[in-house]
Amino acid sequence: MSTTEQSTPGQAAGDERVAQIHEALNGVIDPEIHRPITELGMVDSVTIDEAGTAKVHVLVTIEGCPMRDRIERETAEATATVPGLARVEVSTSAMTEEQRTALTTRLRQGRRQIPFNQPGSLTRIFAISSGKGGVGKSTVTANLAAAMAADGLRVGVIDADIHGFSMPGMFGITEQPTKVSDLLMPPEAHGVAVMSIGMFVPEGQAVVWRGPKMHRAIEQFASDVFWGDLDVLLLDLPPGTGDVAISVAQLLPSAQMVVVTTPQQSASSVAERVGSLSTSTEQEIAGVIENMSGLTLPDGTVMDVFGTGGGDRVAATLADAVGHEVPVLGRVGLDPSLREGADQGVPLVVSAPDSPTAMALKGVARALVRKPRGLGGMKLPLSVA
Ligand SMILES: Nc1ncnc2c1ncn2[C@@H]1O[C@H](COP(=O)(O)OP(=O)(O)OP(=O)(O)O)[C@@H](O)[C@H]1O
Ligand SMILES: [Mg+2]
Repeated sequence: MSTTEQSTPGQAAGDERVAQIHEALNGVIDPEIHRPITELGMVDSVTIDEAGTAKVHVLVTIEGCPMRDRIERETAEATATVPGLARVEVSTSAMTEEQRTALTTRLRQGRRQIPFNQPGSLTRIFAISSGKGGVGKSTVTANLAAAMAADGLRVGVIDADIHGFSMPGMFGITEQPTKVSDLLMPPEAHGVAVMSIGMFVPEGQAVVWRGPKMHRAIEQFASDVFWGDLDVLLLDLPPGTGDVAISVAQLLPSAQMVVVTTPQQSASSVAERVGSLSTSTEQEIAGVIENMSGLTLPDGTVMDVFGTGGGDRVAATLADAVGHEVPVLGRVGLDPSLREGADQGVPLVVSAPDSPTAMALKGVARALVRKPRGLGGMKLPLSVA
């Protein structure tokens, strides 16, 4: 392989011409990909020998590329526009597997595609939301994900709570995602691939971002992370119906909302917020989870610490608001071991899979996965004013 001369300013005349050739090659467009060959990493080397012969080596995507002649010709023509060359020689060879992978990665990046929005994507997406904070969204998300993974599903979790991220802690993940060319590889724990801004933030530091930057972060989590073929993607949302909830609806329009409430919550306040969000973003509501239902005491009696009936009331009010049935997917009791598991980075469905609380969570996980996909088919990304 020939050596590539560096086109640093202020070097000999030969280097200047190499830079000019690179410049000229910006005008050679790959006929299939419709982008400049320079941008696609197809220009392998440019050299000029003492006799003034410019040698350009171009990498084509595949052996026997039908466009090879055309690329060679156009490369030669573009190179010849640089003054002071005696001769131009263009050679080509096929990319290695590695170079091809790098190229496809770059391409995918360039178009910023979210794989879950592509036609034919089979990934079910659920956004775990709530009317207000502290109702157990994150705890529920981590346990649902681990329960689904234990059932053999390929599961990913996006921590969409940028300011209040909690997924690394709840999954016990301390490592950072590795980067393979331009793709991030999400760390895995308990069979679940997880991506969170918390993996990039030094201990004790806060994320203070406004809406557009959070939007961008969630977009990157969806498009620049190698999720592979997921069966289910869960998003842990921040409380309420703010910017992030709208971003998720825009970026992942096929995400269905799962509403977490306590038995105590006022149905009207939760349903008003979540219902109007779902109406304006046209997001489906998969159902309601009542968390922190009764506390089972050592003698077996159940104490309704936070009252009763919140789940049913929220579901009924939501159903009225959105005009279709909204099921209660399950009730999860108040259970200190659920909190302990979350604090220790091991979801309860993993540490005590047969406990009544874990069984309730597994029931919700199965109810969600069993639910038929929306009849609307693939929705296009929408914009919300
Ligand atoms: N069913 C439960 N029993 C006992 N403790 C619970 C239960 N669900 C959640 N918790 C605890 O309640 C606290 C809040 O839960 P979590 O962080 O999951 O709520 P959240 O809705 O995600 O909060 P935020 O709105 O701040 O994101 C945590 O300490 C968690 O361990
Ligand atoms: Mg949370």
